[in-house]
Amino acid sequence: MRKKRILTWGLAIGICLILGACGGSGASDQKVYVGVTYYDQSDTFLSQLIPCFREQMDRLGDDGLDIAMTVREASGSQQTQDDQVRELINAGCNVLCVNLVDRTDPSEIIELAREKDVPIIFFNREPVTEDMQRWEELYYVGADARQSGVMQGELAAEMIRKNTRIDRNRDGRIQYVVLEGEPGHQDAIIRTENAVNTLKKNGIELEKLSYGIANWNRAQAQNRMMQMISQHPGKIELVLANNDDMALGALDAYLKLNFTETALPVFFGIDGTDVGLEAVRDGGLAGTVYNDKEGQAAAMAKLAAALVTGEGKEDISFKNKRYIYLPYSKVTSDNVDSYMGDTVKEKR
Ligand code: GAL
Repeated sequence: MRKKRILTWGLAIGICLILGACGGSGASDQKVYVGVTYYDQSDTFLSQLIPCFREQMDRLGDDGLDIAMTVREASGSQQTQDDQVRELINAGCNVLCVNLVDRTDPSEIIELAREKDVPIIFFNREPVTEDMQRWEELYYVGADARQSGVMQGELAAEMIRKNTRIDRNRDGRIQYVVLEGEPGHQDAIIRTENAVNTLKKNGIELEKLSYGIANWNRAQAQNRMMQMISQHPGKIELVLANNDDMALGALDAYLKLNFTETALPVFFGIDGTDVGLEAVRDGGLAGTVYNDKEGQAAAMAKLAAALVTGEGKEDISFKNKRYIYLPYSKVTSDNVDSYMGDTVKEKR
C-alpha cells in the first residue's frame, strides 16, 4: 500500500517537473532578439523606416514581450553587411531583418543564418526568387513596385488633364524626362515603365526627351537634371522621378538656375518622406505615392515576434507563403495633411 502511494506521488512530481520545465521555456516567454542591417544610412526613406521599426518593436515590448534589438548600417558594402550578420548571429540574435546592399547577392547571409537556424526577414530590397527558395525560413516585407508606378502615372495624367498649362508649348504632347533609382533595383525600372504606360493608357501623348540615373539620391539628381536642362533648354514639361529625393533634386536644379515658377515643369515623386510631403504641401512637388513605412515596420515587427515565439503567424496574411506587400497610396495637396506629422502613426 505504502509502496503504491510513493509510486503515485513520484509519478505526480515527475509530471509536474516536466510540465514546469515546458512552461518555463514556453515559446511566448522567449526573448525576441532582432538583428537589423540596412544598406546605407544616407538613404532618406530607410533612415525613416528604421526608427518606425524600432517604435513597433518597442510597442511589442510594452505589450509584455521581452525585446532586444541591434541595428547596423552597411555603408553600401555587401562584404561589410555579411560581417555584420555574422556578428549579430554570434551576439545571440534569434531573428534577422536584412535590407540587402546587393539584392542579387544574399548567399553568404543565407548560409550563415541557416547554419544557426536564425530566420531572415528581408525588407525593401527584394532578393530574386531563386535565392528566396534556398531555405524555408526566408521572408520578405516590402511593397509592389508596379502599383507605385501605376499610381504615379495616374496622378500625373489627372494633373495634366486638369491643367492645360502643363503643355507649355501647346503641341498636344508632354515632353518629359525620368530620374531613375539604382539600376537593378526592383523599384527602379518597374516604376518607370508603369508610370509611363499608365500615362499613355490614360490618353496622354508623350515625348521622352531624356533620362538620368541618380541612385535615389538628391544631389545626383540635381546634377543629372542640370545636364538635361542644358540639353533641352525650356522644353521639359514633366519630371517623373522614382523617388521623392530625386524629384526634389530635380527641383533644386531649376531653383539653382533661377527659373521662374511659370517656367517650371511638374514634378512627381514616390515615397512620401517627410521632405517629400512638405514639398507636396508647399507646391514644389505636384504629387507623390506613399510608401507605407509604418505598415512595413509593423509587419516586420509582428513577423519577427511570431517567428521567435511561434505565436501569431496564422494572423499574418502572406503572398506565396513568405511575402508581405503593403499597399501604396496617392498623395496630392488635397490629402497631404492626413499623411503628415503623427497622423499616420496614430492611424496604426
Ligand atoms: C525604395 C525607395 C527609395 C529607396 C530604395 C532603397 O523603395 O522608394 O527611396 O529608399 O527603396 O532600397
